[in-house]
Amino acid sequence: MQKSTWVATPNIAVVKYWGKKDSQLNLPANNSISVTMDEALSTKTTVEFSEKYKEDELVLNKMRASESDLGRAVKVLDAIRKMAKIKYRARVESQNNFPTAAGLASSASGFAALACAASDAAGLKASARQLSIFARLGSGSACRSVLGGFVEWKAGKKKDGSDSYAVQVASNNHWPQLRNVIAVVNPGRKKVGSSEGMELTANTSPLYKERIRTIGKTIAKMKRAIIQRDLQSFLELTMRESSHLHAVMLDTFPPIIYLNDISRQIIEGVHDLNAKKGRLVAGYTFDAGPNAHIYTLEAHVGEVEDMLSKISGVKKVIVCKVGAGPRRLPSSESLF
Ligand code: PMV
Repeated sequence: MQKSTWVATPNIAVVKYWGKKDSQLNLPANNSISVTMDEALSTKTTVEFSEKYKEDELVLNKMRASESDLGRAVKVLDAIRKMAKIKYRARVESQNNFPTAAGLASSASGFAALACAASDAAGLKASARQLSIFARLGSGSACRSVLGGFVEWKAGKKKDGSDSYAVQVASNNHWPQLRNVIAVVNPGRKKVGSSEGMELTANTSPLYKERIRTIGKTIAKMKRAIIQRDLQSFLELTMRESSHLHAVMLDTFPPIIYLNDISRQIIEGVHDLNAKKGRLVAGYTFDAGPNAHIYTLEAHVGEVEDMLSKISGVKKVIVCKVGAGPRRLPSSESLF
């Protein structure tokens, strides 16, 4: 069987996924919306199924993967083997073009690249929907990275997860001026993992029930803002939604705190910049960590970078465009 190599990129949600209906299948409690990033940050993955492998092998950034990462990859590989009706074990090698330790979303790009490369290597002509379902088994948010542009993950209703996958809201050419300015912040003490955090929130936070009750409206408003390229609404909704998620995390018991002092200085810096301009030109969002993702337009990237340069805890700034989604690489790019 042929080796296959794919590259995929992270996505950053503007309406977040937090909470599962099914933790085996990674079925979410709510729909979410994200923007797929360009290859400023990317994961390249090569997969080969062969009788020469006795067990599935996973190498991440040139190192043998942990048991838990391997276990998540095997879930994706098993689903692909079942559909392709093959029994071969696989070798998977994966490499990020950014430091994994920086706490940047690598599981989304990683599992999207794995789903694409493994399906291809298994000889499947999988649809985007099927690839999204495969990627979701490794990490929920990865199901949104199999598509480019602006993406909605439909939570779905079925117990087997067959209607829980991502669909495109708009392509990467829809809003070409949009940028994500990533401020990499020194991570503090070790964070609570997202799966563990979500479960704790769902079990202990009264505010979370309100989030799930009202999030359908937020989804509808966000989709409208994206389709109309309405920057004011897009940025305000993005910031409010991020704060809402972190409020729910703080309402968890014991509280989950991902933001640190530097994150808070960035929040203030963005609001100061917007106040100076007399309108919203930038909007932050934070995932399960202190790094900021600041959505803005190309014309304001310089001002956002100036603001960040005055905050001493910001280690690095990376500017991303909206990306087109995963792509297959020629065999000369194979990792093994
Ligand atoms: O898919 P996971 O388990 O990495 O969870 C991602 C959760 C958030 O990044 C906080 C939100 C999101 O929708 O991406």
